[in-house]
Amino acid sequence: MTPLIVLVGPMGVGKSTVGQLLAERLGVGYRDTDDDIVAAQGRSIAEIFVDEGESAFRAIEKQAVRTALAEHKGVLALGGGAVLDADTRALLAGERVVYLSMGVEEAVKRTGRNVARPLLAVNPRKQWRRLMEARRHLYEEVATAVVATDGRTPEEVTRSALDAL
Ligand code: S3P
Repeated sequence: MTPLIVLVGPMGVGKSTVGQLLAERLGVGYRDTDDDIVAAQGRSIAEIFVDEGESAFRAIEKQAVRTALAEHKGVLALGGGAVLDADTRALLAGERVVYLSMGVEEAVKRTGRNVARPLLAVNPRKQWRRLMEARRHLYEEVATAVVATDGRTPEEVTRSALDAL
């Protein structure tokens, strides 16, 4: 069993909201690897980052993506940094992967300074610029469709994602 649709894109782009709307429209289940990790680890993602660092988190995340891809048939949202790992990117080969994109200013506006998202706790605009530069091509590499989200509602984005399938 593999997902019908995998959603990738930066944190705060609306993967959970759009993912749940997409799942509803398609009559399938929604799953999110961040939620899987929190449930399996019994602690928040921020705590995992603080306790063990980012590379340990990426290893945990890779396993969570592998398991979810094998188990879930529906809409699957990945954490914003999952594409950083080459093995994780390879796992996505052959899947229908929708990249929800947004610009830096939209990202700053939507997420601001967010302590629950450890990568944005300090100087969000600069962090966002760096994140986007480092990751944009990785999202594009795994994507089979790209849906721009700037200035658009989750319903509009969901419609475009469905059109792009
Ligand atoms: C991260 C994104 C988060 C979460 C973790 C790291 C990232 O997921 O996995 O905080 O590196 O961009 P969301 O995109 O679901 O917020």
